[in-house]
Amino acid sequence: MKRYIYPILILFVALFVACSQGGRKYKVGVSQCSEDIWREKQNAELRMGTYFHDNVELCFAAAYDSDQRQIQQIDSLVETGIDLLIVAPNQVATITPAIDRAFDRGIPVIVFERKTNSQKYTAYMGADNYEMGRVMGQYIASCLKGKGRVIEIKGLKGSSPAIERHNGFMDAMGQFPGITVVDTLQGDWTEESAFEAMSQFRKNNKDASVDFVFGQNDRMAMGARRALLQNGIDRARLPLFCGIDGLPGAEGGIQLVRDSLLEASYIYPTHGDQLLQLAVDILEGNPYEKEIHLMSALVTRDNANVLYMQDEELARQSDRLDQLNLKATDYMNRLSNQRVINLLAVGFILLLLALVAGFSFYRRQKARLNRERRLMERAQLDFYTQISHELRTPLTLIEGPLEQLAQTDDIRRAAPATAGLFDIVQRNTHQLTNLVNKLLNAQTMKPGDDLSAQQIDAITASQPVPSASQLESTSVSSDAAKPSLLIVDDNADIRAYLRTILQNRYDLMEAADGQQGLDVARREVPDLIVSDVMMPVMNGLQFCQHIKSDFITSHIPVILLTARAMDNQQIEGFESGADAYITKPFSAELLLARIDNLLKSRRQLKNLWGAETPATQPAAPTDNLSKPEPAPEPNSANIDDTFIERFKNVVEQNLADSDLSVEVIGQQLGLSRVQLYRKVKALTGTTPVDWLRKARLAKAKQILLASDLTVSEIAYKVGFTSPSYFTKCFKDEYGVVPGDMRKS
Ligand code: FRU
Repeated sequence: MKRYIYPILILFVALFVACSQGGRKYKVGVSQCSEDIWREKQNAELRMGTYFHDNVELCFAAAYDSDQRQIQQIDSLVETGIDLLIVAPNQVATITPAIDRAFDRGIPVIVFERKTNSQKYTAYMGADNYEMGRVMGQYIASCLKGKGRVIEIKGLKGSSPAIERHNGFMDAMGQFPGITVVDTLQGDWTEESAFEAMSQFRKNNKDASVDFVFGQNDRMAMGARRALLQNGIDRARLPLFCGIDGLPGAEGGIQLVRDSLLEASYIYPTHGDQLLQLAVDILEGNPYEKEIHLMSALVTRDNANVLYMQDEELARQSDRLDQLNLKATDYMNRLSNQRVINLLAVGFILLLLALVAGFSFYRRQKARLNRERRLMERAQLDFYTQISHELRTPLTLIEGPLEQLAQTDDIRRAAPATAGLFDIVQRNTHQLTNLVNKLLNAQTMKPGDDLSAQQIDAITASQPVPSASQLESTSVSSDAAKPSLLIVDDNADIRAYLRTILQNRYDLMEAADGQQGLDVARREVPDLIVSDVMMPVMNGLQFCQHIKSDFITSHIPVILLTARAMDNQQIEGFESGADAYITKPFSAELLLARIDNLLKSRRQLKNLWGAETPATQPAAPTDNLSKPEPAPEPNSANIDDTFIERFKNVVEQNLADSDLSVEVIGQQLGLSRVQLYRKVKALTGTTPVDWLRKARLAKAKQILLASDLTVSEIAYKVGFTSPSYFTKCFKDEYGVVPGDMRKS
């Protein structure tokens, strides 16, 4: 699991970093007192400021010159949770409480362009309106050369620029006694208000002459001009006009001055970008000035054209900036889409990884549990096998001897009552055996396994058990000598018992473990081996494997005799090469029958070999002798085939050699005289000497029929040293003397 944790953690961190990008934005509320081209320009500059500060989000509100509306808008901006308020208050006194409320809530406040009568603000930014009024007054006086009649049209009553501009203007006028301020009309910054006020004035003062009209902004100056023209004043008698704002663009003050509709204007700076910078500085805790006074300039016919062109250039640049921003925003959007896709991909990979990790963890857990379960089962099985062995061995030693005793006629005849007792003991021993089988199988059985004691019995008894008379007949060996049999068992009692069963029919040898058994088997080459499975030093399965893979012993049939009754244990037994598997406790009859069957099938095999005429066997190439081809699989049948092939080859190749003896053949095959004798006898039914003689005679017969050589020549050619002995042997083998065979 550990190796999955690190990549998953890294992915989680990457996901977290990716998610946390974007961050929090400052929300800045902008409360404008009116909606006009000056405000629009300022709002556009504020927006442009956010191009450089993308952590700021702006919320605009316009009050359209209404105190009530502006108060409501400020309150609701505060409610939406703004981080800073920028406000241009409609009038000094009316809006102050709303601004104070925001400030008291801990929201930083920037008052700009118009003032309040409270100290509750964070910073102020604006131009010097008094100075503007004063400069415009002086400009008018200089135009009129200190003599003339002037009208002022004021902005919204109660708004600070209106008050300050008026004061500056009047102070300037006071310095020119030749100039009369005919009237101060009240407007509200709109063109319409000035139009109305001037129309009213004309109505009330039909013949009054006016030389100059000072509108506190350009819009009002133009409104007054329109009023005079509409009220029928002669263009030649039209007074001069000036205003304030000096905005760029169509209908802006600069163009009006350039086109001689106004005499002068004064640039009233908007500086929205600077305003936003101030807001950011406050929000981010950077140093800032509390009172910022913006510089400004007079627009006259002398500089209007230059200013106009400059502004056009500026407008172009800001257009490009807008386009750039649009592109940047587009890229940002694409980037954020990409980020979402990446996040989804990372999430998907994470999920996949988690699934893979989980699945692999689950599989390994499962495999571990299975391993542990198998180990437990194995341990359990070993335990029960051990017990089984312990129980079955003494049971065998009771059941077997009992059976033999019970069948002894002497006992039955001498004491019929005792024979009855034998039956009872025998029945109960058998019952006990069944009980042990059932018990052990119930303990070791997995769910799904249903190997019952009866089935075990069935396995052990799967070969038909011959009757006593059959036993007699089958056990009569065709050979005069008794077959030899090796018993391998670490339990001396079992060996002793087996001895009692087998000694009449077989020549017995014994060994107490697999290793000893192997030594005896290699040395003596018995006709059959009966071996226990559970033994010290080398167990029966290993022993059997060795027997079957050793080319001296590979032909020997092996019966495994054991308490290991389970299916898979039996399979293990057969895999080791065993020819039969008998579970304990076993019946003596069954064992005898098995042994007999195996020896019989060996004899059948022998006949098979024996049926073949040695000389008719195709001679293998000579180098096969020195370098026998390896058997494709190391099973005993292959080993035996190879052995016989090699034996035949040695005989074939050396027929002519009259000194060829069994010892020489054995040497060439790597066997002792006894080993060679037993092996060849077991596999072919013929002794090596007989085989050699038969092979020589067969070869002689072949030459006799195919050549003109004399009988003596042939005799020497096939290794006989005496032609007369050759003739005798030939007659014994084929019923005719060599000379007669050629004639016929
Ligand atoms: C814009 C405006 C300007 C004027 C200023 C005074 O809303 O009316 O024309 O110079 O406000 O505050």
